[in-house]
Amino acid sequence: MCGIFGYIGDKKTAPSMVLTGLKTLEYRGYDSWGVAVVPDSADEKKVIFVKKKAGKIGAATVSDLPPGSLAFGHTRWATHGGVTDKNAHPHLDCTKMIAVIHNGIVENHETLRNELKKKGHVFVSETDTEVIAHLVEEYLKKFSVLPRDAAPAFSKAVQATFKDLDGLNAIIVINTMADEMVAARNGSPLVVGFGTGENFLASDPVALLPYTKQVHFLEDDEMVVVTRQNIHIFNAHSGERIRPKKQLLTWTAEETEKGKFPYFMLKEIHEQPGMLSEIAADSTQQASALARELQKASRIYLVGSGTSGYAARAGSYYFATVGQKITNWSSPTEMHHHIDILPKNAVMLVMSQSGETMDLLDVVKRAKEHGTRVLSLVNVVNSSLWRMSDLSLPIGAGPEKGVASTKAFTATVAQLILMAYAMNNDTKTGQKLVAQAAKATRAVLTEKNVKLIKDVAGSLKNAEHLFVVGRGISYVTVMECALKIKEISYIHAEGVSAGELKHGPLALITKSATCIVYAPNDQHHASAIANAMEMKARGAHIIGVAPTKEDVFDEYIPVPDIGEASIIPNVVVGQLLAYYLTLERGFDPDMPRNLAKSVTVK
Ligand code: M6R
Repeated sequence: MCGIFGYIGDKKTAPSMVLTGLKTLEYRGYDSWGVAVVPDSADEKKVIFVKKKAGKIGAATVSDLPPGSLAFGHTRWATHGGVTDKNAHPHLDCTKMIAVIHNGIVENHETLRNELKKKGHVFVSETDTEVIAHLVEEYLKKFSVLPRDAAPAFSKAVQATFKDLDGLNAIIVINTMADEMVAARNGSPLVVGFGTGENFLASDPVALLPYTKQVHFLEDDEMVVVTRQNIHIFNAHSGERIRPKKQLLTWTAEETEKGKFPYFMLKEIHEQPGMLSEIAADSTQQASALARELQKASRIYLVGSGTSGYAARAGSYYFATVGQKITNWSSPTEMHHHIDILPKNAVMLVMSQSGETMDLLDVVKRAKEHGTRVLSLVNVVNSSLWRMSDLSLPIGAGPEKGVASTKAFTATVAQLILMAYAMNNDTKTGQKLVAQAAKATRAVLTEKNVKLIKDVAGSLKNAEHLFVVGRGISYVTVMECALKIKEISYIHAEGVSAGELKHGPLALITKSATCIVYAPNDQHHASAIANAMEMKARGAHIIGVAPTKEDVFDEYIPVPDIGEASIIPNVVVGQLLAYYLTLERGFDPDMPRNLAKSVTVK
């Protein structure tokens, strides 16, 4: 969940380059940050200089660090130890000549810490990460007899340390004597960037875009020694040399910037009409390819986490009604209970924006061991999920940096609509619906409409609870909208199936309740309106989201009727509502508390 950026090269400004890289990656974790540099000057080179602080990186500078051409840094999402300056990465060994940054969890850190303490090591933080620095120190003592041994001994020491760590971890280690970064990965993502006279390491390829598009994604148990001129990859266990699999990044640095928008989330919401038009124009062939695979399956399991999970759930409606295929839906953590009984020829279709969600990687691994074919829809091409799957296709949302996922949802749903219609040999209708979704989304985003949603947000800003209610596929809409509202505005919002109201939730509907009711023009419309009346009869304030205004609505947000694809503009209304509620309440929509963009821990 943490952001990692490392540089070695000709430039003396490594600390500020690292800081810039970290700012690009802040969405991966933002409770604290830190930069370490090996100073270029021989006088200062005796120790590593570190600047680290709790809190967001914001307008931080590193001008107080000495110049150097080898530096790395980290943005943290705390696992072990509170959010303090001391617990921020990088962490140093006792000599202050070794520094480490880390993503993941060292499961045996307590045992290692106790052993190291017995050997006299002094710990200054509460983190699991610090054991890595002291372990490298310990191994380095063992391996380097002569000063000229420094470089090979250092990578050997990191290798031995990495082998001692239990759990899923990515580590990068530097020291004052070897002009290199040594990194290893198991589970948590790391990517190596190839430059000219300079090379890079990062947790996310987005950070490398301003410098290079040539990258190698480290696989599990791969280690790399990165110097100015060389990148040497090998297996951490066998030591066997591995040829880099160079990939070319397709996104541009500009695409990853906020541009004229105050927040990434708003930028990404507004990118949806254009993105959907592109998907309608370009994605039918890939949807047909995937549909052919799905048609062969005896059963389909759609899997995703959070917002991607809701997209998967929307897909299960389309696959059942349009594709005429029995389709199950599950979150990856619950899917574990089904793996052992997956029938022969079942297919698991996994969706993910990042392609690095650990829960997904975990279940995909198990499914593959079981012999189940895994297909995936992934936004970050070449990510871990992409590489693990039997067949992967891009979602086509472009870079998404807002922690609250928006365009990845609508893009995934659009792909699933195309696929469902392709399964029914009717690609034209699928394409038409996605093109209509682009148009309808543009209508939701007109100035007049946005102002209306902003006003509704203003009126709801002090609400403690919001009930978001819908039927059929709108049940997915309301769960996704409720997730958006709670994760960034911190209002408790519950997505309720309108049909289930009378089975329990109605007990909570009293005079003070605010209910947002989705009533698209589908077979559930009349029932949804009846449910709105039942809630109103108990004193609830009803905000209706529908193509037509109904008497039962106290407030009304219009949304175009585009038949089966209405979920797309409907969810965009929810995204805007969540965004403006968050601003009204004075919070940052891009960096919600306790969350991070890529969830790379279990
Ligand atoms: O990268 P993924 O799509 O696999 O991420 C899955 C969830 O962690 C993600 O959708 C999360 O729920 C978002 N913060 C929701 O806005």
